[in-house]
Amino acid sequence: MQSALPEPIEFNTSALLEAFFERSQDGFFFMMLDQPIEWGPGVDKDAMLDYVFAHQRMTKVNPAMAKQFRTTREALIGLTPNDFFQHDVAAGRRGWRALFDAGHRHSITNERRLDGSTMWVEGDYMCFYDSGGRITGHFGIQRDVTDRTRAAEELEQSREELRALAARLQAIREEERTRIAREIHDELGQALTALKLDLAWMGAKRTKGGRTSESLRAIDESITERIDQTMEIVRRIASELRPSVLDQLGLEAAIEYLVQDASRHSGIKVTLDTAQEFPRLPDEIASHAFRIIQEALTNVTRHSKATRVDVSVRRAGGAIILGVADNGVGFTPGSLSGLHSLGLVGMRERALACGGVLMVQGKPGEGTSIVVTIPVKAS
Ligand SMILES: Nc1ncnc2c1ncn2[C@@H]1O[C@H](COP(=O)(O)OP(=O)(O)OP(=O)(O)O)[C@@H](O)[C@H]1O
Ligand SMILES: [Mg+2]
Repeated sequence: MQSALPEPIEFNTSALLEAFFERSQDGFFFMMLDQPIEWGPGVDKDAMLDYVFAHQRMTKVNPAMAKQFRTTREALIGLTPNDFFQHDVAAGRRGWRALFDAGHRHSITNERRLDGSTMWVEGDYMCFYDSGGRITGHFGIQRDVTDRTRAAEELEQSREELRALAARLQAIREEERTRIAREIHDELGQALTALKLDLAWMGAKRTKGGRTSESLRAIDESITERIDQTMEIVRRIASELRPSVLDQLGLEAAIEYLVQDASRHSGIKVTLDTAQEFPRLPDEIASHAFRIIQEALTNVTRHSKATRVDVSVRRAGGAIILGVADNGVGFTPGSLSGLHSLGLVGMRERALACGGVLMVQGKPGEGTSIVVTIPVKAS
């Protein structure tokens, strides 16, 4: 047996639509023109917008719309685009033109509430036409997105501040390293040299006074040797802190030094390919470029298991391009979180600090390549 169909419920579409309009949490409105307008080829749109901005009026709004504008519905009725966009008529006209050109529009606009406060509004707007194709007005649904927009702006600002802080910290660190390197080199180096001279002087004194025993001579020699070794260590620490080649001979030589050092310590075959005409870079940029290559090579020796790495420094147009490509295990940079890969973050920040960009390409099993593009002024 077939069950009886339910009785159709009586409903009145326009009453439901009216209820929908009244109760919606989004602002709904109609803005109609005093007279329909032509909008198409051959129309002087600027002149037409003059008319529209004075003669298109708010004719119907819902309570949510009044709430957005912090006013009553009555106060909104009759207002024109000129009233709504007093603070930026040009932006208002651009928006209207785009709406009338396309017949509909989705946009985020900066508006003023009737109490004068600023708000960001995200909305959808649709034109109405008469039977002759002329625009009679438009309908809109809009929502106050001020909080969301402000949060995004604040986030963006705090990112910028963090970036500036990172750049500043790096600069300080570089200055600090340079200072410590110089002090270690000069102070410790001189102290050791002085010790050596003292030792030689003592030896000479002893020889004058008579015969020096074999055992004393041996101690002399061993102390001298240890001082020499210590001097070598001092020199190495100082140059690791701040390779003096970078200051004395420039970036090209410093990179050569890095490459030699990496191949000596890792046993990986490291090749270097440099431009014919190597540009002289400002100190700050040179030191960023150097540190980027240094970190990239450290990563290769620490993580890649590569047998070969190609370092290149090229010039292309107004930029220098640094590359470090290995044939190791590779990795997917996207899978790393910023908190655990400070080396990569540091490289990226250094590239940004020079006005450049860093690209990391890696595929598991196919090696990793790092490319940094830094714009340089022609010198
Ligand atoms: N050339 C490479 N080959 C393979 N894996 C790499 C390479 N470079 C980086 N990685 C991977 O990316 C990770 C992040 O590198 P990153 O330099 O940021 O940090 P780290 O070297 O681990 O530590 P540090 O902060 O001391 O540099 C590494 O732990 C490694 O897993
Ligand atoms: Mg690292």
